[in-house]
Amino acid sequence: MRLAKYLARAGIASRRRAEILISEGRVTVNGSIADKPQLKVGENDMIAVDGKIIEGPEKKVYLLLNKPQGYISTVHDTHDRPTVADLVRDTGARIYPVGRLDADTSGVLLLTNDGKLAHRLMHPRFEVEKVYKAWIEGLPQKKSLDLMRRGLVIEGKKTVPASIKLLKTESENNTALLEITLVEGRKRQVKNMCAAVGHPVRALRRESFAGLKAGRLKKGDYRHLDQQEIKNLYHQVGLQI
Ligand code: URA
Repeated sequence: MRLAKYLARAGIASRRRAEILISEGRVTVNGSIADKPQLKVGENDMIAVDGKIIEGPEKKVYLLLNKPQGYISTVHDTHDRPTVADLVRDTGARIYPVGRLDADTSGVLLLTNDGKLAHRLMHPRFEVEKVYKAWIEGLPQKKSLDLMRRGLVIEGKKTVPASIKLLKTESENNTALLEITLVEGRKRQVKNMCAAVGHPVRALRRESFAGLKAGRLKKGDYRHLDQQEIKNLYHQVGLQI
């Protein structure tokens, strides 16, 4: 990245003002005065203005966590409960979860410090797909599943159409397994939808978020997304990388 752009990105000054600082000989790169705004610098260079070292723009981090039950999806908890941040401590970046999973819900959770992407992934306008598996109480009739598919009113607002598949029934345990695909992300949405048709959720897991799946990730483990996965996320929400 060009030195002037680097300084601007780091919030030191506008691009124009940064060029002036450079031409005035007030900027050093690795200890030497750098008087050319177009000089290329990278994250390993030590850059200073008037002798004060500048922190570069924070590197973007994208993590996929296979969240176990028992962790809340916030970074800090005032009641000292375990949080997802406890599972991804060593990343060196100020990341936060994209949306929420309830403490007793397991499954994939994306964490990032890319605010623009996170905002769009959570925004209903972009209809990002979330796939859940829910063990529910009772054996649902087609009528109930159709109601969930079409949308039902929860807290005064109709849910948008969802895909619902009945994967399994276990009459001996009075339970059924549903696969539920949502393009909204309202609070406790799956639990509220199932409860609204008389089938409370016994266990809930998110299988996929925006096409990202846990794959071989064990519960409690996370991995960094690769470039292609990041690109896919950007494309899904109409951003260029
Ligand atoms: N819907 C819920 O009810 N809970 C979750 O954690 C996610 C979706």
